[in-house]
Amino acid sequence: MGNWLVTGGAGYIGAHVVEALARNGESVVVLDDLSTGRAERVGDAELVVGSILDEDLVRRTLRAHPVQGIVHIAAKKQVGESVAEPLKYYEQNVVGTIRLLSAAAAEGVQAFVFSSSAATYGTPPTDLVTEDIPSQPMSPYGASKVMGEWAARDVAQATGMRAVALRYFNVAGSYAPELGDPGVFNLIPLAFQALTAGEAPLIFGDDYPTPDGTCVRDYVHVADVAEAHVAALQQLADGSDLPPFRVFNIGRGRGSSVREVLDVVADVTGNDTAPVVVDRRPGDPPSYAAVVDRINKELGWTARFELRDMVESAWAAWQHGPGTV
Ligand SMILES: NC(=O)c1ccc[n+]([C@@H]2O[C@H](COP(=O)([O-])OP(=O)(O)OC[C@H]3O[C@@H](n4cnc5c(N)ncnc54)[C@H](O)[C@@H]3O)[C@@H](O)[C@H]2O)c1
Repeated sequence: MGNWLVTGGAGYIGAHVVEALARNGESVVVLDDLSTGRAERVGDAELVVGSILDEDLVRRTLRAHPVQGIVHIAAKKQVGESVAEPLKYYEQNVVGTIRLLSAAAAEGVQAFVFSSSAATYGTPPTDLVTEDIPSQPMSPYGASKVMGEWAARDVAQATGMRAVALRYFNVAGSYAPELGDPGVFNLIPLAFQALTAGEAPLIFGDDYPTPDGTCVRDYVHVADVAEAHVAALQQLADGSDLPPFRVFNIGRGRGSSVREVLDVVADVTGNDTAPVVVDRRPGDPPSYAAVVDRINKELGWTARFELRDMVESAWAAWQHGPGTV
């Protein structure tokens, strides 16, 4: 296909996208400010250290490396932090995306793939979430992703660029032990952290209207997420009569409950310390999963890995060293 600029390619998901593109014979340049990423994660790809907020740097990078498209993954992603520091999220995620789009449009970039999130839906009005459900984000983080989508959509409509937003659900696992998620924010790493500290994993509420009373989410393997990017880029590189802007859910299309995940964690780690049930967290929707028919039909992508694959690979990465490569 060709050459691509990947922002945030030194992060958890970005490094997997870079790895998948390299494995498919693509040439990649990474732009990352290393605020949460690590240089070692980009492999053989060229790394430009700097921020998407630096429009001059982005333009110089695009002139030095003419690309078919940009995969825009760089962002701040902690929901709680975004509530405490909303302007940080609006600056990094919204202004950052606008500067990047401005540089991309000025340099004639034709394709743009944007890392969006199920957080754009907020509390979905239904358990099975299609892309057509209106965006009602519940946090500045989710709002910043909606605004990023809108900016990409409108620039695409105005310039002839082709843009795609990929709304990831709960990303987990690792393609290789050295590519694990260094952040401990999600259920699986939080459970590993508790168990390795000799503590019980926590369940926030077991009285939800779900089969076992615990919240249900759609977990998707990061290697599958990376392949979805490859599929989107292949189509963008080949297709000329594509709509300016499309949105795709990235999930497995079915949910797993917190208790189900923790059962698999106990099995994989060999540590069956019983989880402790504590109060619900405010604002946690009981149950939702992605409807993934659109990406299946239009890009031929479907998730291949199961929950156990995610937990096993995440555990291998955790043992390799949390926060290390
Ligand atoms: N991890 C998930 O479950 C999940 C779910 C939905 C969406 N997302 C989205 O996926 C993307 C990647 O998430 P992740 O889990 O890999 O996070 P991450 O923190 O591991 O990666 C983010 C990367 O972006 C870089 N970065 C941040 N701000 C930058 C800036 N201004 N300029 C240049 N680089 C910058 C960081 O250094 C890091 O390498 C984010 O856009 C996030 O919102 C993640």
